Order: sequence, then C-alpha cells, then structure tokens
Amino acid sequence: MSSAPGAEWWRSAVIYQVYPRSFADGNGDGIGDLAGITTRLPALAELGVDAVWFSPFFTSPQKDAGYDVADYCGVDPLFGTLDDFDALRAEASRLGLRIIVDLVPNHSSDQHVWFQEALAAAPGSAERARYLFRDGRGEHGEVPPNNWESVFGGPAWTQVTEADGQPGQWYLHLFDSSQPDFDWSNRAVQEQFLDVLRFWLDRGVDGFRVDVAHGLIKVDGLPDYTPPVEAGSMGGGIESGETPPYWAQPGVHPIYREWRELLNGYEGERMLAGEAWVQPLAKLADWVRPDEMHQTFNFEYLETPWEAAAQRAVIDDSLSAFGSVGAPSTWVLSNHDVVRHASRLALTAENPQGDGIGPKSKGLPEPVLGLRRARAATTLMLALPGSSYLYQGEELGLPEAIDLPDESRQDPTWFRTGGQRYGRDGCRVPIPWESDAPAYGFNATGSSWLPQPAEYGPLARDLQEGRAGSTLELYRRALAVRRTHALGHGSLEWLDGYGPEVLAFRNGDVTVIANLGEQPVELPAGTTLLCSGEISRAGLPSDTTVWIAAH
Ligand code: GLC
Ligand code: CA
Repeated sequence: MSSAPGAEWWRSAVIYQVYPRSFADGNGDGIGDLAGITTRLPALAELGVDAVWFSPFFTSPQKDAGYDVADYCGVDPLFGTLDDFDALRAEASRLGLRIIVDLVPNHSSDQHVWFQEALAAAPGSAERARYLFRDGRGEHGEVPPNNWESVFGGPAWTQVTEADGQPGQWYLHLFDSSQPDFDWSNRAVQEQFLDVLRFWLDRGVDGFRVDVAHGLIKVDGLPDYTPPVEAGSMGGGIESGETPPYWAQPGVHPIYREWRELLNGYEGERMLAGEAWVQPLAKLADWVRPDEMHQTFNFEYLETPWEAAAQRAVIDDSLSAFGSVGAPSTWVLSNHDVVRHASRLALTAENPQGDGIGPKSKGLPEPVLGLRRARAATTLMLALPGSSYLYQGEELGLPEAIDLPDESRQDPTWFRTGGQRYGRDGCRVPIPWESDAPAYGFNATGSSWLPQPAEYGPLARDLQEGRAGSTLELYRRALAVRRTHALGHGSLEWLDGYGPEVLAFRNGDVTVIANLGEQPVELPAGTTLLCSGEISRAGLPSDTTVWIAAH
C-alpha cells in the first residue's frame, strides 16, 4: 500500500513542531521568542526536517499559551514583532525550511476586539452574533443554555454582566472561559478568517496548521449532549459512531473548501493541516478530500498502544482511509497536548494514554523502557510512507517532566479541574541545548517559565551531537536515509513469517523490522542502515526497530 502518489512536498514532508515559548529564548525573560528561534534554526536544518510548524505566537493574553488569540495578524510582544517574524521567515528560506503557522479559528481570546464589542453590545446585536451568546435557562436565566462541558473541565458556558449591571446572557467556550467560540455560520466570521489567511500567505508562509478543525460548526439549537465516558477530552473517542453536536459536523467542510480555493490561487504548494480529533479514520478522511485540506493529524496512530497487532491495523487503516481520497497519511507520536512518547509508551495499563501525568499519577513510566520504545516507535514511524510530524525535544529523547511543582503549573486544565487533571505542562518545558549553560542553553539568564528537570541536563543537544547511538544521531540518520531512499513517497508491503509480535515490511529497497515482543528476532541478510538499539548475536532485541538495505 502506498501513501497517495504525487510529488507535492507535503505528501512526504517531515514537519518539526516548534513550541515557541519553550524552544529558544533570545531576550532571556524565560519565555522563548522568535529571535531565539531564528538563531537556533540551523539546528533544524542540520537535523534534516523539511518544514517547521510554529504553535501560535500571535497577540494573546496567553491564558491558553497563545491558543487564545486577540489579534490574528499581530505578533505578541512576548515573542517579538512582525519584523522578527520576517527575519525568521527569511532565515528559514535560506536554510531550505518551509514554515507553517498555527491558525486558531474555533475561538478567539476574550480580549479580541470583536469579543470586547460583543460584551459592550446588547443581546441580539450584530456584535454578539459573531460569537455564540444565548439566554440562560431557569426562571432568571441562571442556568447555562445547555449541559456541554469544556474540554478543559467545567461548564462550557460563562454568564456575562449586561450594561445594566445585571447577570445576562451566556457565551459558549468549548475550551477556557477566556476562549469564546465564534459562530461560524456568520459570514462576517468567515470573511475575517479569509483575510487572516491572505495576510500570512502574503507574508510567505507555506501553510497552516488548523486548530480544532473538527469544532467550528455546532448543531442548530445547541442541544444537550452527554459524551460517552470513554470519549477523550477532545472528543476523539466517538468511535461509537455517535457525533457530538459540537464536533465533526458536516458544516465544517464548505469552510475548508473555500480556504482550499484561496490557497490554490497562491504559488508554491501552500497547505492546510487539520487538527481534527475524529474517529474512525474513514471519517477523518473527509477532511482531506481533494478540495479540502491537504493533511490531517493522525491521532488514532498517536493513541495506538505499543502492540504489534494494533500498530499494524492502524497503519493499514491509515493508508487505506487517506489513500481512498488521494491524501497522504500522516504520522505523529508527540505534540504539545499529549504526554511525550518517551514516557507515554511506558505508561502501564492503569493509565494507558496519560491525560497529563504528575507526581501523584498512577502507573508512572519507567524511563529506560520509555526511551527504548520511543526510539523504536520513531524509527518505525519514519519508515512509513506519507508525512511525519516531530515535536521539539523528541529528537533528544526527552521524557515528560513529571515532577513539576504544583505552583509552577500553567495549563488551564489544571485549574479548571481543581488539580484533578495535571494537563499538558509536562510536555511543554523548555528544551535543553547545552548541558553546562544556564537553563541548559534555552537562554543566557537561566530563567525558564516552567522549571527544567535535572534529567534534561544529560540529554542536552550538545552532548548528543556526533555521539554514536545518541537519540539525536538516530533521528538525523533516519531522516537522511528516509530522504535518500524516498521512503516518504514509497509504499508499504508487509512481510510475513516474523511472528505475531513483530512488524516487518518493505518500503522500496528498505526492509523494516520492529520487534514489539520479548524474544529476539533473527534478521534477514542485508546491510543495516539504521537501528534504534543494539543488535545482539541472538538477533533484534525487544522494543527495537531496524532498517536493512535488501541485497
Ligand atoms: C488545540 C491545541 C491546544 C489548545 C486547544 C484550544 O487542541 O493544540 O493546545 O489548548 O486547541 O485552542
Ligand atoms: Ca523571551
């Protein structure tokens, strides 16, 4: 099976996610910024990625780390200026890196001028109609309009105070109360975002990652809904066939068709990558039909346990679902919302996916096992046809920062659940560049918006550079071989005979074998191109992946 054919760059690209607050801090205030990123971009070119996706750096009060945007066409002073962005863009082009920015269309910040106008205006006004304001239920409107819950915990509605000082209407926020949802049936909202797309396209971006791309349209009448218990917090768990009234509504598709047309009018293969938590994969494929987005994140792959049968099934399902609409499959193991895979893959059954982990979580991962599995999983992923996403720091083998002190935590999930859910801070800690420098080279002052754990020191990039067997060198080599052998454009053919706990396939002239079982696996003849661990005399050890050049 192949990923859909075609020569466009995004069909096979390896896209590296930069989380701007935590990548590199140019001015030393403890929060990463654009100037810092620009000085460190050569490291990404050396790593061998094709493109860089930046989480939001737009004007924002930072209630949800920038996913609460107050001005879609401005750079937050925390991160720099538009000139800094232009400099970053220029440096990326010089290095041959494409850039993707994050578009957050489902909601704005409550500091967005439109929301401020809506608050000042009366119920029923055009200003309120850009968001989802509704009257409350109950005798005095004191009960929220429906029973929906915020992804971050607590009710999805907040009541406002009207001009007369009385409690008034409620507004919908699927996320934090500082993130009011837009009403996407309103043409003014649609047009605002067409302008935002043009603004960044004109500034030379190669594409957009579209935040919450399954959430924009809500069912008319906003009916009550109680999700099944097993549904993940982003509603991904709608495998039951049920469609919640706020996720995956058919009305999102015309929006993306209009965006696609706009992008098609630009030179240079600009792309849209949707963050849509939709199951099953066959339904998710609707987001990447030929006239919609180019890619969508494959969270089903991310959430698949480290078990051979499950891995094989999700790979097959992905290639066939995306292939059926002519889209490339994508692959991803880590991002800024999930437990880093060097920890997640060693969580025990008590806590299978880890909705954020902290010191008091159950089933905490064993770090050596976690790293071993993470290296094997990445080596497997990077051999698959299609496009892959990497999250900053995974190339260093960083684990989740589990022992963050409570008082340092910043994720709204932590606050909105009264500390019941740790949330996502543990994967967002600034990354280590130099083991001996202040803040491990994140900046020159040693300050860091989240404390860096001591175990990040020995994993600093400078100690891994050029060191045989380091995780950094494994990634670098994998990306180089992937390129030479055109694996991203290739096709997958399963090889049988290795037993039920082994994944074995050919992609072009490369044989890939991943041992997810306990027993060592005897390897076929051929030159080893790359191995996530050490091959022993008995063969390929447990939790190890190898690439072999077939003779
Ligand atoms: C997406 C982002 C996440 C953010 C949420 C609300 O899931 O990846 O970080 O909190 O949307 O914008
Ligand atoms: Ca800074």
